Amino acid sequence: MTLQPDPTPGDTSWFTQARFGLFIHWGLYALPARHEWVKNQEKLSDADYEKYFRRFDPDLYDPNVWAEAAANAGMGYFVVTTKHHEGFCLWDSALTDYKATNTPYGKDLLHPMVDAFRARGLRVGFYHSLLDWHHPDYPVDDLHPMRDNAEARASNAGRDLSRYVDYLHGQTRELLTQFGKVDILWYDFSYGGMGKEQWRSEELVQYIREVQPDIILNDRLQIGWDIKTPEQYQPRGWVHVDGKPVVWEACQTFSGSWGYHRDEESWKSLDLLVQMLVDSVSKGGNLLLNVGPTGRGEFDARALDRLAGLGEWMKRHARSIRGCTQAPDGYQPPQDGRLTYNPTTNRLYVHLFAWPFGEVHLDGLAGRVAYAQLLNDASEIKIGQDSWAAGQPGGGAGSEALVLRLPVKKPPVTVPVIELFLN
Ligand code: GLC
Repeated sequence: MTLQPDPTPGDTSWFTQARFGLFIHWGLYALPARHEWVKNQEKLSDADYEKYFRRFDPDLYDPNVWAEAAANAGMGYFVVTTKHHEGFCLWDSALTDYKATNTPYGKDLLHPMVDAFRARGLRVGFYHSLLDWHHPDYPVDDLHPMRDNAEARASNAGRDLSRYVDYLHGQTRELLTQFGKVDILWYDFSYGGMGKEQWRSEELVQYIREVQPDIILNDRLQIGWDIKTPEQYQPRGWVHVDGKPVVWEACQTFSGSWGYHRDEESWKSLDLLVQMLVDSVSKGGNLLLNVGPTGRGEFDARALDRLAGLGEWMKRHARSIRGCTQAPDGYQPPQDGRLTYNPTTNRLYVHLFAWPFGEVHLDGLAGRVAYAQLLNDASEIKIGQDSWAAGQPGGGAGSEALVLRLPVKKPPVTVPVIELFLN
């Protein structure tokens, strides 16, 4: 039996098929280029931050290039920050002046993006920040950039949270009525004293389900969600809530920042990124991999390099990712490896993170595999049961184990995959 989460209100069927998506964090913080929390981290006032608004001019922005990069990497959806905590809006919201159309760039950034990704068959997701460090009614709390400013703290007396929450609901309405079908709504985030009561989540969720019944809602409004979203963390197994498996998605960065960070150097290797994708699917989850475009409007070379590498791998191995999930109970992955399984085709995929010498033993699979091949080039992998190894000291896999006989040389791909056609 393969695990199957209980149905939720949204339509997650396409989501668990796609398995791989692109997160995009883009806003004014691309200009300081030192983390999307820069306003908070450096305790910048609105006046300090204004210089970025006045100079935001992504003249090289071409969402077709972005969509192409995502499609080539084998991704099936994207999620973009319509507004991050800084409060700046990528679309031409009627409810604020703090938006792309009022920067030197002067144009809406979101509609062309949605069109470009949709045209390449990718599903559309909107990230939207619940926090807002620009809105005059958002409380100056412990996460606010002005937290240590006595005057700003004192202004809390005149700040009216309900006005901010009306704004939040109003902007949600714009996002869900002006861009056609939206596939994912990804709110961020609840904390401390700010949660479902403050956001009026119940009312919000009811509205969302009314206007976009199929939409996938993440968990950070605290109620009504379809998916769980662990961040910067690979779960140890299928994510469970109240003892039950749920639909989940790990969101991960290429480096240590979500927004474009010029000087940050902890970029993950291609090997590691492919392994993280495989690891997520082997546990029944998705991977949402983030890029932070520059202030000129491009993906930087480091991101493009990794996306291209992921695409090279996905071109030959998408079969072990798309439509796949955790292997049925009782199938043990080999040492240094992960299994995924496609329930429709009844094929099992053995991913080898380290290339072993000679043989791979898979317990419990003897007699259950009709054919095996390397996925990258469809070359046969001979299968059998113990022969030579059984007679060796320390050798032998037992009669329950299937033995795959590997070539000595690792195939020239990032993570080699063996496709097993089950009986
Ligand atoms: C956090 C951060 C944020 C990022 C998000 C992605 O909540 O505040 O900067 O957008 O995680 O999961």
